[in-house]
Amino acid sequence: MNIQQTYSFSFPTTIRFGVGVISELPGYLKAHGLLRPLLVTDPLVSQLDFFKEIVNNLKAEGLAVEVYSEMHKNPVKSDVLKGKVLYAATGRNAIVGVGGGVPLDVARAIALSINHHRDLFDYDDLIGGDQYVTEPIPHLVTVPTTSGTGSEVGRSAIIAEDESKKKRILFSPSLLAKMVFADPMLTMDLPPFVTAATGMDALTHNLEAFLAKNFHPICNGIALEGMKLISESIVIATHQPDLESRAKMLMGSMMGAIAFQKGLGVVHSLAHPLSSLLDTHHGLANAVNLPYGMGFNYDNFESQFDQMAYMMGQGAGAGEKFVDYLFDLNKQLQLPSKLSGIGVTKDHIETLSDLAAADFCHPNNPKPVSREDFKGLYLKAL
Ligand SMILES: [Fe+2]
Repeated sequence: MNIQQTYSFSFPTTIRFGVGVISELPGYLKAHGLLRPLLVTDPLVSQLDFFKEIVNNLKAEGLAVEVYSEMHKNPVKSDVLKGKVLYAATGRNAIVGVGGGVPLDVARAIALSINHHRDLFDYDDLIGGDQYVTEPIPHLVTVPTTSGTGSEVGRSAIIAEDESKKKRILFSPSLLAKMVFADPMLTMDLPPFVTAATGMDALTHNLEAFLAKNFHPICNGIALEGMKLISESIVIATHQPDLESRAKMLMGSMMGAIAFQKGLGVVHSLAHPLSSLLDTHHGLANAVNLPYGMGFNYDNFESQFDQMAYMMGQGAGAGEKFVDYLFDLNKQLQLPSKLSGIGVTKDHIETLSDLAAADFCHPNNPKPVSREDFKGLYLKAL
């Protein structure tokens, strides 16, 4: 802590959490006079029984529901603009995002676009776009159905350009959901691979946020408890899911996303280029790189590693063996521990290293990461 400096901390999101809380959605919307919601989800979720039930329950309570589900796996600007057109054409007065990170990001970006009429990417945070976010945002409610990105409690949306597929980040504190309905029942049927990969993304958020170099003791506390919940539940949730393990994963993933307002680090910078270049699942890319990135960070951060290992059930003074524990965790989850296992070859390494060095996450890593460091880590993981 720098005693000469002042800081701002902000945790304003209201979360209803627990089995069955989704049944409160119609009453919540009615109580706020939001009788014409736009439900935003992805094509896959729109076909699932629980989603149809949400729609039916809203209709049964007299709400006029419209569903928007046109979006790519990596959502692009036109996905957002079509949603904006539908919102206006059908006279909507609220947005409810239902699903994983993709539909929740699209829902948030649509919410931004409703009263903000510049080009969508004028609001890109990396070019200072949040200064233009000045108008009211429609009432945004989020309903997570995976335990990974934690987008439901986030304040940004990652949307790509249609042509180049370049990812842009829309960000503003006013993009936080007004209400989150986090119901573990909605995550019960996630398949094992999705549970494991998205869960490792959530774990990586907690670990990287804890180590990130910014001063944020509140986020540190959240990250430590988040990693504990995930370590207690990720293997069970993957192989023999029950309500308790699903609930702990859902809470742990939200805590990871709340904690990473502190920052992320080297692992996310190693992972992002794999998704850009090879379309690798974000969680899988993190899972494979996690032990290597953490190994890179170990020296001079021994006490933090002891703390992380302790929180994850490894006992006192186990920081030294933390990397081995992470390798073992991947094994238990039947995830690969080598980049060659996910289609990376030696020919990709130079491009991956360039992209990783340009990534926006590693400036918050506790120690600096050079392009040569990235190359070394990729080669080690190959
Ligand atoms: Fe992530």
